[in-house]
Amino acid sequence: MPEAPLPVTDPDTLFRQSHDEYSRTRFTNTLLNHAMMNLRYQVWDSYEQAVKPKFVKQKGREPESSREILDALHDNTFFRTYSAFRYNAQEMGALSVIPAVERVAPQINETVKALIAHNSTGGTLRLNPDMKYPKYMTAIDAHLTPGGYWTENAQDDASQAMILQGRRIAGPAVNKKRDFGNVGLSVGTWISRTFQDLKPRRILDMATQEGKQLSAYHQLYPQAELYGVDIAAPSLRYGHAKAINAGMDVHFSQQNCEELDFPDGHFDLIVSSFFLHEISVPATKRVLAECYRLLSPGGVLAHMELPPHKSCTELQNATFDWDCQYNNEPHYASFRSQDYTALLVEAGFDAAKCHEITVPDVGSFPEDKYEQFLKGEVEAPFHGRGGWFVFGGRK
Ligand SMILES: C[S@@+](CC[C@H](N)C(=O)[O-])C[C@H]1O[C@@H](n2cnc3c(N)ncnc32)[C@H](O)[C@@H]1O
Repeated sequence: MPEAPLPVTDPDTLFRQSHDEYSRTRFTNTLLNHAMMNLRYQVWDSYEQAVKPKFVKQKGREPESSREILDALHDNTFFRTYSAFRYNAQEMGALSVIPAVERVAPQINETVKALIAHNSTGGTLRLNPDMKYPKYMTAIDAHLTPGGYWTENAQDDASQAMILQGRRIAGPAVNKKRDFGNVGLSVGTWISRTFQDLKPRRILDMATQEGKQLSAYHQLYPQAELYGVDIAAPSLRYGHAKAINAGMDVHFSQQNCEELDFPDGHFDLIVSSFFLHEISVPATKRVLAECYRLLSPGGVLAHMELPPHKSCTELQNATFDWDCQYNNEPHYASFRSQDYTALLVEAGFDAAKCHEITVPDVGSFPEDKYEQFLKGEVEAPFHGRGGWFVFGGRK
């Protein structure tokens, strides 16, 4: 007898907010966007016009570090408003999606389980029920989201992944001027245009969460086997179900990227995005050593990350490192203070084959300018404003 069709094929369709919940999520998304995209410039103006002159008057010199700038900004009204908007939008945004997830958590988990049981792709999921989570993961709720990445709300839980994804599913900020597009597609496009001889057989996305960046690599390198590793199980279950639903073969596994179980030289391309700033510097060093070990000769590494302190003004650094103090991102500043190429060299890479570059976001950068960008004639916009900072190397 043919198997009964699945009642739900996309777990996202189970996420249904009430009118008020939906309004709350959209409002907080918009407030966060407004704070980050607009208010931050008012903070900068206010710093230049009022805060810095006051500091100079008191100390007879300008602030010398982002830390001093953040301390000096502390009593400034614009800074306090900006900070209050950002902090509360972040926290309230997460809280606004939780009731809609909790109402259907058993159905989410059942649906994800059923999709995995019906798996019609060649994708796989390996979980580690004995995972020992590092303290940098368990000590805080990352990005002020209750439960962070790793919490399991029930056996075989995928609902925590939906809590992490709810704000995206509900929709972007109202009147968002630019869609920054897909990081995977932007970085992947740059890789494919820069390393034209690279024909990856296997691609690894580290800290893949639910694997959303992998679809870009599937598009760019349809022949390649795709691997997504993350330390947290709920997003891997959810991502595996989403990949099955999308008909995409991905091999997901729950592992700590500091020590992976793949053989040496297994991957021709290793990527990550929004990952390394979340872990401690010693952990980053172990991850980079693993990247070197796992790359085949000629293989390419590309981590999309926050730009380092050295490439930004101290005022920009103060704005980035705000997250360290107020957004449960304690490793932001220590990671950004590193020399990324020096870290790569320490991991085994040849400095002459390392790159630190901001690549254009393909969703907003004019296509006809891309050739000029590749020739070094035009620069990509700043990280997060139409560009994405990338560092890595070729083995
Ligand atoms: C901000 S999310 C990145 C999401 C994804 N890369 C993207 O582009 O949307 C950070 C991810 O890093 C994962 N993570 C943190 N520490 C890890 C580790 N040591 N090994 C593997 N994954 C880790 C978290 O579980 C989380 O899914």
